[in-house]
Amino acid sequence: MQDTDSLRNDLLSQIAAATDAGALEQIRVSALGKKGAISELMRGLGQMSPDERKAAGPALNRLKDDVDAAIRAAREKLDEAALDARLAGERIDVTLPVLPEARGTIHPVSQVIDEVTEIFAQMGFSVAEGPDIEEDFYNFTALNIPPEHPARQMHDTFYLPERPDGTRRVLRTHTSPVQIRTMLSSKPPLRIIAPGRTFRCDSDQTHTPMFHQVEALVIDESTHMGHLKGCIEAFCRAFFEVDEVKMRFRPSYFPFTEPSAEVDIGCRRDGGELRIGEGDDWLEIMGCGMVHPKVLEHGGIDPSKYQGFAFGMGIDRIAMLKYGAPDLRAFFDSDLRWLRHYGFSSLNVPTLGQGISR
Ligand code: PHE
Repeated sequence: MQDTDSLRNDLLSQIAAATDAGALEQIRVSALGKKGAISELMRGLGQMSPDERKAAGPALNRLKDDVDAAIRAAREKLDEAALDARLAGERIDVTLPVLPEARGTIHPVSQVIDEVTEIFAQMGFSVAEGPDIEEDFYNFTALNIPPEHPARQMHDTFYLPERPDGTRRVLRTHTSPVQIRTMLSSKPPLRIIAPGRTFRCDSDQTHTPMFHQVEALVIDESTHMGHLKGCIEAFCRAFFEVDEVKMRFRPSYFPFTEPSAEVDIGCRRDGGELRIGEGDDWLEIMGCGMVHPKVLEHGGIDPSKYQGFAFGMGIDRIAMLKYGAPDLRAFFDSDLRWLRHYGFSSLNVPTLGQGISR
C-alpha cells in the first residue's frame, strides 16, 4: 500500500501551489474523485485482513479529511483574494467633498451682455452675430461710408494686410456691419441685437483698443422714431433698475442713420457715488437713428416699403456705470484681485423675474 504520508505531502504541496479555482478542482478530482488516488486506496481496504484494515482505515480517512479541508481552505483564500482585488479596483472614496468650491467668476462684460440679452429677449429681439475680422464692405461701404469718406478716419481702424486684389479686411470698428449681414440673410420684419467685440486704435482711461458694443436693429413697415425712443427708455429702466430715467436725445451725425442722435442719461455724483437716471450731469451711452435708405438698399430691402431704427451702445461703458468700475483698462488686465472684486457668481443668471443683477 502506498505510503499515505508521502501522498499527503505531495497533495498538500500541490494544493499550496495552486493559483486558481480550476487548478484546485483538478487536484480534488485526482485525489478524491471516483478514480482519484485516495478513492483507489479506500477501495483497497476491502482486500485487507481485519487487522490491516484497522490500522489503514483511520489513516486513510484522516488523509481524505485533511486533503478535503486543505482544498476548501485554499479555495476560500483564492475567493477572498479575488474579492479584495475587485474591491480595490472599484474603490470610491465617499469621504471626498461633492464639489470643490467654485472659484471662477463671471466677468462684468459677460454679465452685462447676459443682462442686455435678457432685457431685449423679453422685448422680442433675437441675437445675431458677425465676425470680428470684417470685410471693408460690411464695416464701411454698405453702411454708406464709401472709400475716402472722412468718417473712415474717425474710426481709427485696424487694417489687415492688403490681399492680391488690393482689398483689405478690417477688425470691425463697430457692430453695425451685423445690420447689413442680417438684412442680407433674413427678410423683414427684423428685430435683432448683436453684442460683440469691436476694435479701434485708441487707449486711455475710458478707451481700450478692444471693446464691446451691442447693436440693435428694428425694421418694419411703420417703425418710427417714437419706437426708438420708447425702446431705449424701456431698456435703460430695466438695465439700471430704476423706475424713471432722465434721458436726452442730442442731434448727431452717422452716415448710416438719418436722422441721427446720441443718447445721454442723467446722473449725479453724490460724494464718491454715481447715481444713474437723475441729477444734472449727463453721460453719453449710445448712438442711434433711423436706418438710412441707402443702407436698406445695400441690405437688399426696399426703402419705399420698409423703414427702421438702429442703435449702438458701448457695453463696457454701461458696465462701468452700473457697477462702478472707474478704469476701463482694468477690465482687460486679467488681474485676479479685480476679477474677484467685480466678478459675478456663475449661479446668478440674470432674469427679469428675479431681478436683473442681484
Ligand atoms: N456704430 C455707431 C458707433 O460705433 C453707433 C451707432 C449704431 C449709431 C447704430 C447709430 C446707429 O459709434
